[in-house]
Amino acid sequence: MSRVAYVNGRYVPHGKACVHIEDRGYQFADGVYEVVALVNGRMVDEGPHLDRLERSLRELHIAMPMSRAALQLVLRETARRNRIRSGLLYMQVTRGVARRDHPFPKTATPSIVVTARRLQPPSAAAVDAGVRVITIPDIRWERCDIKSVGLLPNVLGKQRAREAGAYEAWQVDREGAVTEGTSTNAWIVTKEGELVTRPVSNAILNGITRLTILKLAREQGLAFRERAFSVAEAKTAREAFISSATSFVLPVTQIDESVIGNGRAGSLSLRLRHAYDEHAAGSPVTA
Ligand code: PDD
Repeated sequence: MSRVAYVNGRYVPHGKACVHIEDRGYQFADGVYEVVALVNGRMVDEGPHLDRLERSLRELHIAMPMSRAALQLVLRETARRNRIRSGLLYMQVTRGVARRDHPFPKTATPSIVVTARRLQPPSAAAVDAGVRVITIPDIRWERCDIKSVGLLPNVLGKQRAREAGAYEAWQVDREGAVTEGTSTNAWIVTKEGELVTRPVSNAILNGITRLTILKLAREQGLAFRERAFSVAEAKTAREAFISSATSFVLPVTQIDESVIGNGRAGSLSLRLRHAYDEHAAGSPVTA
């Protein structure tokens, strides 16, 4: 079956989908995006993802290209036309097409693209084995809270991880504290059993998966703290994991050369992965 993309009001074959060469997303990374997981035909945390899309756009003074209700219809229709019930929806909004000039154009209309893709969840064995992360300096700008398509440092970081045979790179600030992964949030479980993740600020993206995990931890009465943690603390932590709309909760079993815990997924990480999987499978339809 051929893939279909939504581009500025039309559903077009994926292979032929395109935006103009003077789209500001292409020329300046002047745009934002969202990735939403689809599980059993439902979007996971659709409302919070759309809230964050609207926030990112507001921060950049880009108008929503359509009403939220219309976008929700486009998301469903894109999933339907691609016959995808489990996978991900990608949406990107840019400031639009204009002659190349740095200031905001006076008349550009925002461009919007929506695509859908199938995604296989990792096997239980792969989850149990966990993944390796490396640590790298965080060289990004000071508005990492905006989900901008300007991802060059993240791309370079992920490539470094791949070249090192690792799954993800944890970015580290000037104080030696972990900010986040290149496309995931970072978590540890301390020797005392406390769940720790960095508090929200402009230094990280406030992951929707992160927010849901915190909610699940609260509901389950788990001890957690939002605070910065150093690479050294992470390397001696009892457990570690990463979170995102595409990874869900994914155990980390090695950081650089240090093995975490016994080298297999930790029990709290697995408990949270299970709780998150249940949440994802049962997400209410919010349209
Ligand atoms: N990435 N931090 C960064 C830098 C991210 O790019 C992402 C998401 C996250 C996790 O956010 P969420 O839980 O809302 O997915 C944290 C998406 C999946 C991506 O770029 O593909």
